[in-house]
Amino acid sequence: MTNKLSLRRTQDTVNPTGLSPEHLRFLTEDTYFAGELVQYQELMMMYNCAIHEVRTKLEVLNADLSVRYQRNPIEFISYRIKKPASLIRKMKSRGIPVTVSAIEGNIHDVAGVRVICSFIDDIYVVAEMLTCQDDITLVQTKDYIKNPKDNGYRSLHLLIDIPVFFSDQKKTMRVEVQIRTIAMDFWANLEHQIKYKHVIQNEEEISAELKDCAETIAATDRKMMSIRDKIEAGKTEDPLDEDLLERLAGFRIPTA
Ligand code: GTP
Ligand code: MG
Repeated sequence: MTNKLSLRRTQDTVNPTGLSPEHLRFLTEDTYFAGELVQYQELMMMYNCAIHEVRTKLEVLNADLSVRYQRNPIEFISYRIKKPASLIRKMKSRGIPVTVSAIEGNIHDVAGVRVICSFIDDIYVVAEMLTCQDDITLVQTKDYIKNPKDNGYRSLHLLIDIPVFFSDQKKTMRVEVQIRTIAMDFWANLEHQIKYKHVIQNEEEISAELKDCAETIAATDRKMMSIRDKIEAGKTEDPLDEDLLERLAGFRIPTA
């Protein structure tokens, strides 16, 4: 136990930048962003703050909808900052100079937020409620639900610009928001693994099976929505609840 603690302290003192060892490795060993460590760190902090702002907006929408309409359109939210390795790879593959100043104008998914909804129509409700807010600018929409990719991938992608207030400036930051159902997310996570394995046996067969699953998932997502609608339509007021409400209305806390 003592060892772990002292090890951490040692790392802290030899790493005054506060960057994770992974960040440091890509920034120093490969000399990318050389001489720009502080600028890089500052920019990533800004993207992190932009993610905070977007998450807060989404959480507010979910809380509001859950109280006013007893609906929770968002199941959960995840987010990430693009790792330096993947940032560098993307910039190199697109012929963009690997400098901090080139990041903002060229890479649109440094800050990523993923919103997982239960139902397909909730995806569009959340997207509309987010993008109609007057401090948000919708830069681009890619609707891979209405127009799925050839491999079967489905999701709604939004690129948005959001202002963030820092100590000395207001800065507009870009965030990529991906909105999908639980089932679409399940599919995308498995399919993603194919891309990261260099050699996969039976790749064609697996791709075909995945595509088939994507169609099944899409049909199930649609069916779940129609079942939900039937449940909603068939709902009647529960007399027990009304009784309870009446009794609660007449309830007085006895005073001494
Ligand atoms: P990137 O260069 O990958 O960002 O692609 P792009 O600029 O054409 O953007 P697009 O909106 O098509 O995709 C952005 C992100 O969506 C990717 O980084 C993935 O997170 C996700 N994505 C897109 N297509 C697929 C797919 O076929 N499978 C999976 N699993 N994820 C995908
Ligand atoms: Mg991307």
